[in-house]
Amino acid sequence: MTTTTPFPNGFLWGGATAANQIEGAYDEDGKGLSVQDVMPKGISGPRSAEPTPDNLKLVGIDHYHRYAEDIALFAEMGFGVYRFSIAWSRIFPKGDETEPNEAGLAFYDRILDELEKHGIEPLVTISHYETPLHLAEQYGGWTDRELIGFYERYARTLFERFGARVKYWLTFNEINSLLHAPFMSGGIPIPEGGVPEQQLYQAMHHELVASARATRIAREVAPAAKVGCMVLSMPIYPLTPSPDDARAVMDADHGNLVYGDVHTRGEYPGYFLRTLREKGIDLDITDQDRADLTNTVDFVSFSYYMSIAETADPSKKVAGEGNIMGGVSNPTLEASEWGWQIDPVGLRLVLNQFWDRWQKPLFIVENGLGARDQLVEVDGEKTVVDDYRIAYLNDHLVQVGEALQDGVDVLGYTSWGCIDIVSASTAQLSKRYGFIYVDRNDDGTGTLERYRKKSFGWYADVIRSNGASL
Ligand code: BG6
Repeated sequence: MTTTTPFPNGFLWGGATAANQIEGAYDEDGKGLSVQDVMPKGISGPRSAEPTPDNLKLVGIDHYHRYAEDIALFAEMGFGVYRFSIAWSRIFPKGDETEPNEAGLAFYDRILDELEKHGIEPLVTISHYETPLHLAEQYGGWTDRELIGFYERYARTLFERFGARVKYWLTFNEINSLLHAPFMSGGIPIPEGGVPEQQLYQAMHHELVASARATRIAREVAPAAKVGCMVLSMPIYPLTPSPDDARAVMDADHGNLVYGDVHTRGEYPGYFLRTLREKGIDLDITDQDRADLTNTVDFVSFSYYMSIAETADPSKKVAGEGNIMGGVSNPTLEASEWGWQIDPVGLRLVLNQFWDRWQKPLFIVENGLGARDQLVEVDGEKTVVDDYRIAYLNDHLVQVGEALQDGVDVLGYTSWGCIDIVSASTAQLSKRYGFIYVDRNDDGTGTLERYRKKSFGWYADVIRSNGASL
């Protein structure tokens, strides 16, 4: 073990989850339905008309009732920060009410009490793929401008109630997934033939305005709060060195970077206006919208799991497996069982790209390996010997260290699914990310008991040594 570390004092180490993937209790204490409650197979399968017993998210990992035990385990690893999301439909069950549901707010008070008890800083996602179902069905989700007002009321309620206790806020999880997963990401029902592009881009604009308005409200109501955007990051490499492939990469990159550009610069970039022109899309953008967008974020957060390649040659366009952003597979990389191509160096590239481009502090709020784990007994204790997960996380964190030495400002790192949770894309429990194993299976059986995996002790050492043990 070396004794030096590139990680600065005060670097925030921790883990991340989302309400719909862990809480369960989908209809308790006044909670309304969210889009997730009718997505039994994740984004890979059809939605159901109503909640069905095969939807693992209805019970999740029962965090709603076991949060104290879970947070105590996070504290045992030494977490300095915990990222979680607030379920919109616990606070506004249908989304368009004028008064919030007190029982929903009280649940998050209890979570915050527990975090405070252990000295863990909360990092709260306001909307993580959990649009109230009523807003999807009655309004067409974010295609309707009215959602800006509903979200504004929801965000104001959270800042008023929790603003003194929560410093770090994220407005929309992976906001750039909207065009790729409209129902999960934006509550937009998908008709046969798909959602027209005009509507998708209008929904994107509504979310960007809502995010900026929430940032403005936070400054009024909770001046100490820091508000960040959250984007899905994915470095894109040219499949060959041909200029055409490099241009295809630029186009694909622009499609992702526009969200961060608007969040950090307060206006739409020229390349995006050109895309709209060429597609014949005419967005409804008011003067008030333009003024709202100037409320830029304090920091940029992002998820990082994999990189992809891109080509201009249609004959080489073999779609990369398992990611919602498209692109093609990179022949130089290995992939996880779900086809996500593993690329630690890509994380250093993304950190440098975002820092060079936006000059805002960065927060890595998701990273990890989804893998099948096997519960075994070692020295009389049930555990998982997850050396593959340790290797993945170690390699990625070494690259974060490299980026820090490059001069990139990184506030912290929260690994994804620090406790096993239901997967977003496939709605499986067998795609596990956690340091903590949860005894629940894809068929819904299991005791819900928690067990420390080998990576649990490994991560505790990383945190204790502030990265020197990597
Ligand atoms: C991100 C989402 O896209 O990736 C999470 O913000 C999700 O909600 C995570 O769980 C990992 O994806 P999956 O499909 O393996 O759960």
